[in-house]
Amino acid sequence: MSEKMWKTGISTHIGKKAYVRGYPLEDLIGKLSFTEAIYLVLKGELPTENERKMLDVIFVSTIEHSIAPPSVIAARAVISGGNSLHVGVGAGILAFGSAHGGALEDIMKLLQENIEKTPEEIVREYLSSGKRIPGFGHRFFKEFDPRAKNILDYARKLGFYGKYCKLLEGIEKEIERQKGKKLVINVDGAIAAVVSEMGFDWRLGKGFFIIGRVPGLVAHTYEELFERPFSKRLDEEKDVEYIGKEPRKLPEDYKGNW
Ligand SMILES: CC(C)(COP(=O)(O)OP(=O)(O)OC[C@H]1O[C@@H](n2cnc3c(N)ncnc32)[C@H](O)[C@@H]1OP(=O)(O)O)[C@@H](O)C(=O)NCCC(=O)NCCS
Repeated sequence: MSEKMWKTGISTHIGKKAYVRGYPLEDLIGKLSFTEAIYLVLKGELPTENERKMLDVIFVSTIEHSIAPPSVIAARAVISGGNSLHVGVGAGILAFGSAHGGALEDIMKLLQENIEKTPEEIVREYLSSGKRIPGFGHRFFKEFDPRAKNILDYARKLGFYGKYCKLLEGIEKEIERQKGKKLVINVDGAIAAVVSEMGFDWRLGKGFFIIGRVPGLVAHTYEELFERPFSKRLDEEKDVEYIGKEPRKLPEDYKGNW
């Protein structure tokens, strides 16, 4: 039989019945919590009780963090331009990048690919090349990020504190030693270490942040639908410093390509 172009191991229909990772969908309804179903879809198997609890801790810790982050600004600005809910949520997701949410994937990759190295080597490599170490630092948490602390405390209680968490904590100490300044383990760093302990591949990293934060983005986008259209605009007097050319005249002899 020739190979088909599309392949999937996630779900299928047999007759009119849908199967998710081999289980009839109708049997999952009312038996699995949303988090258990997410684990099943991502990992292919049902979670243990502790795996489910750990993922719940992670998703609750990422669900919302004020109106300030770039993703919420993007989502609300797009709604302010007169768009519908899904467009705003999509814009919010597109704002996730290496400084916001995407750091989760970067630090997962760092931990998984450098597990044999010492924190000292890793920090030296990053700092000497002027690169920021993903998963560390926060705009206002300077002693510890309470979300990260909670996640790592639960990882200890639920049996997910292992080599990746140790490496993460080692890097935090080493940054302080080499830089002479503390950069806290942030929420992305803590999640990255724990989901690595749970056996997830780093390429799924942003997925955890997206799954956790989308409910917050939906709430912000919905709220913005009731605001005055075009209200998310800058007040140029108050918010903007113009650093361009002084007003000037187009040279009279300039012909351009007309
Ligand atoms: C999150 C982040 C943008 C917050 O930044 P901030 O607290 O406003 O810090 P600043 O951008 O003002 O930087 C302050 C100093 O710390 C350094 N720094 C901050 N985070 C750093 C990191 N992760 N690795 C190395 N140096 C870092 C900056 O280079 C700067 O150094 P300097 O004082 O020698 O110039 C920043 O820590 C960062 O880029 N972290 C990595 C990405 C990340 O994990 N994002 C997820 C956030 S939840």
